[in-house]
Amino acid sequence: MPTWKPDQYLQFADERTQPCRDLIQRLRLQQPERIIDLGCGPGNSTAELARRWPKAAITGLDNSSEMLAAARRDYPLREFILGDIATWQSGMPWDLVFSNAALQWLSDHGELLPRLLRQVAVGGALAVQLPANDQAPAQRLIRELATSSAWRGRFRGPIRDWSVERLVFYYDALAPRAAKIELWATEYQHILPGPEAIVQWYQGTGLRPFLDALAAPEDRARFLEDYLAAVTAAYPRQPDGKILFPFRRLFIVAYR
Ligand SMILES: C[S@@+](CC[C@H](N)C(=O)[O-])C[C@H]1O[C@@H](n2cnc3c(N)ncnc32)[C@H](O)[C@@H]1O
Repeated sequence: MPTWKPDQYLQFADERTQPCRDLIQRLRLQQPERIIDLGCGPGNSTAELARRWPKAAITGLDNSSEMLAAARRDYPLREFILGDIATWQSGMPWDLVFSNAALQWLSDHGELLPRLLRQVAVGGALAVQLPANDQAPAQRLIRELATSSAWRGRFRGPIRDWSVERLVFYYDALAPRAAKIELWATEYQHILPGPEAIVQWYQGTGLRPFLDALAAPEDRARFLEDYLAAVTAAYPRQPDGKILFPFRRLFIVAYR
């Protein structure tokens, strides 16, 4: 498990929360009474759910004590619990099982998503957003750098990549068990002040397992320097000095 730094993650709170708002906005649920937010992180997605359905009982679940501490600090009236999505089982069905930008940290989506759908009450929904930016230069460059001759011997162990499948995979996994499915992909165009912001962005997420696997602080700093040089070359500045950072995301909604 990577270590999480909530404040680093929240540097891009608006960009990271927009897909969550888009997913919520699309849901056709009148008044869900029980909602669980799996991988709630610092509580930003839980807060959006509460804004949309203020009367619902909403629980945020996460396995990072750092993230839960930030969630409890920023949203003291909400319920947040420590738990692992990989083993999560609930005795009572939920009207909405929601997960924004978290399930990519878990493997075997062919088993995971049907299991989560089984926790949904009849008439309710499973709603998931997954980052699917693995072919973008910013993510490809992390992998290329880590496997380069300069770096591959320096990591303490193998580093697990994010799990994300194609939309058709999720259709096949969920359609036999769902009353209705909606699937879509969106490519967001984030406008960032410069390539340093991409390094900051991934320091809050995808770079974490790589940095955690480098023992020496000076190695971590050098890895970030090499990564900055690579993204600077890959993302040219616009005439106004800013850069465009396209980011693709998948959305999966299965109603029971
Ligand atoms: C990228 S953050 C997403 C936070 C928030 N949902 C949002 O919309 O921005 C991913 C969160 O998933 C959590 N997570 C990853 N694997 C998990 C697992 N197996 N069980 C519970 N939480 C997990 C991490 O601790 C992290 O807080």
